[in-house]
Amino acid sequence: MITTRLATDAQSLAEAGRLLAAGCIVAFPTETVYGLGADATDPKAVARIYAAKGRPSFNPLIAHVDTVDAAFALGDFNADARALAKTFWPGPITLVVPARPDCPVCDLARAGLDTVAIRVPADPIAQAILRAAGRPVAAPSANVSGHVSPSEAQHVLADLDGRIDAIVMGSASEVGLESSIFACIGDEIVLLRPGAVTRADAERVIGHAVALPDQTSEANPLSPGRLTSHYAPRAPIRLNASAIRPGEACLAFGQETPPGADPERTFNLSPSGSLVEAAANLYAGLRYLDSLSPVGIAVVKFSKNGLGEAIFDRLQRAASPR
Ligand code: TXA
Ligand code: MG
Repeated sequence: MITTRLATDAQSLAEAGRLLAAGCIVAFPTETVYGLGADATDPKAVARIYAAKGRPSFNPLIAHVDTVDAAFALGDFNADARALAKTFWPGPITLVVPARPDCPVCDLARAGLDTVAIRVPADPIAQAILRAAGRPVAAPSANVSGHVSPSEAQHVLADLDGRIDAIVMGSASEVGLESSIFACIGDEIVLLRPGAVTRADAERVIGHAVALPDQTSEANPLSPGRLTSHYAPRAPIRLNASAIRPGEACLAFGQETPPGADPERTFNLSPSGSLVEAAANLYAGLRYLDSLSPVGIAVVKFSKNGLGEAIFDRLQRAASPR
């Protein structure tokens, strides 16, 4: 299969929408990471996503729509979910809500669950594609399953060139980390995946505490995608490194580089110590260091507050045994 490269002019984006509506799988940029889209109402198209990514089919997908009203048509939003939707959409946040009985997102995209994960992305290119598609678009991150998510078009091609119908060649994703995921089922709001909209951001809006998922049960149907080993480069990752060992590459942050770091094998996520910049650079940095085939990637210690919670979550998954 030859993967068509599409530009980002209005005509090309309309073409991307037409391809999606016709059952093709198309990668496109969003402000979080690049997604691999398919018509969420068409199980044959969705099955092609799972095949291209090599994704276990029990792991459900996020349905992307262009407006908050289109999102409200898919699921039952309680008061908290509505408040989060109206405050943070369009934006880098996904809400898991009970699916409406007439929810058109197919069983395969929802992995047979009676809930549905929904996101309204803010990226104008993603918006234009969703408008043109005219239906919910299921889109996981556009990487081989378990691998580092793609924050640039080149990352997508490195993983999936020749395995997908088309890719919209946009610029690097602004946020660089997958969306925050909040489950809004029953009375509790549960943070399933930290991201750019932080726990504190959500708590300010709903006026009460956000719960964390039960870490002991990976099989919890509330969070099927919380596989411990995930977002992983090939090289093993070592966290909270205060010194770099021979042969290791170094993922640095802030002004100081740890002793033993080889400048040729060091990637600094943010020399000025900005967590926003670090998030945006994280996946490009991991992919770059991995491409040097080091014996391991040592990651320096950094703050776990705010956006640091999401960055640390991804690094912990990248570091866990496979
Ligand atoms: O930023 C993002 O969220 C990107 C862009 C493309 O939108 N998408 C993304 O999708 O990261 P993916 O498939 O890589 O991660 C979606 C996560 C998975 O961990 C999945 O298990 C979880 O969302 N999920 C999807 N539907 C769910 C549901 N009904 N209940 C609980 N978790 C769900
Ligand atoms: Mg993913």
